[in-house]
Amino acid sequence: MNEFANRGAIVTGGASGIGAATAARFAQAGARVAVVDRDLDAAATIARTLPGAIAFECDVRNTAAVDETVGLAMDTFGDCSLLVNNAGVGDLRPMHTVDDKLWHRLIDVNLTGTFSMMRAVLPHMLAAQRGAIVNNASLSGLAPTRNEAAYSAAKAGVIALTKSGALEYGPFVRVNCVAPGFIATPLTVAFQQMPETFEPIRDSIPLQRMGTAEDVAEVIAFLCSDKAAYVTGQTLVVDGGLGLPQAGTDAALAALFAKFSELN
Ligand SMILES: NC(=O)c1ccc[n+]([C@@H]2O[C@H](COP(=O)([O-])OP(=O)(O)OC[C@H]3O[C@@H](n4cnc5c(N)ncnc54)[C@H](O)[C@@H]3O)[C@@H](O)[C@H]2O)c1
Repeated sequence: MNEFANRGAIVTGGASGIGAATAARFAQAGARVAVVDRDLDAAATIARTLPGAIAFECDVRNTAAVDETVGLAMDTFGDCSLLVNNAGVGDLRPMHTVDDKLWHRLIDVNLTGTFSMMRAVLPHMLAAQRGAIVNNASLSGLAPTRNEAAYSAAKAGVIALTKSGALEYGPFVRVNCVAPGFIATPLTVAFQQMPETFEPIRDSIPLQRMGTAEDVAEVIAFLCSDKAAYVTGQTLVVDGGLGLPQAGTDAALAALFAKFSELN
């Protein structure tokens, strides 16, 4: 299980949900993990539980902070050959009610933050002639639902950025993406608390459950590992089959998202 021994890993949004599970999975595999988050206390709480991990406070929208964090992680670990761009925020409301501030927040955290981190880490990967990047997009980036235009657009951008990175930085650096479906984390807790609209979705997922943060972390670890040595530029959907055209989740999802937008 020491597949990431002697590797330095940066996991953004590492203080919660999928990021925290990924940080734990990487640490178990021997990586030294930079748990990067805008919430330093929460990042420190996670880092304390993981051997060799260090918490860094960084808002990925702040390019100076991103550059500084990557520099510090390099100085501390002497390696930055694994990067997981996971920090993200969502919102649900009709497109015409998204104001400039919200639009920029969703684009800046989800898309620009991913770009800034890649830009800061890639020179180190190129110098070391090795690296694996996994960006966390979303099923919404492939199949947008109603009421999440800015989020879906940002995540579609993350998928495009992933393909561009794969084209530009082979053969030494691989860049891939995960596209989670419905995962039980603090991000989706509000949905889970609406049983009448949530349960029909869960029941129509072919695997009949929400995903766990660990389900996604395992796929991220696979894509970063040598087991995926010939995989780059790909988006791996981790959704229990929710996004399959015949799954029949569309109507239930529309109802859930409409209900949630009403409450916003
Ligand atoms: N949970 C799902 O169902 C789901 C589905 C598809 C995609 N995703 C994606 O997975 C990723 C992780 O989501 P999660 O469900 O674990 O959510 P989460 O809310 O549990 O964790 C997100 C983390 O990102 C951090 N973060 C937010 N903005 C930040 C910023 N500007 N700078 C640094 N850190 C910031 C938060 O503090 C938090 O620790 C996100 O990119 C999300 O879009 C989640």
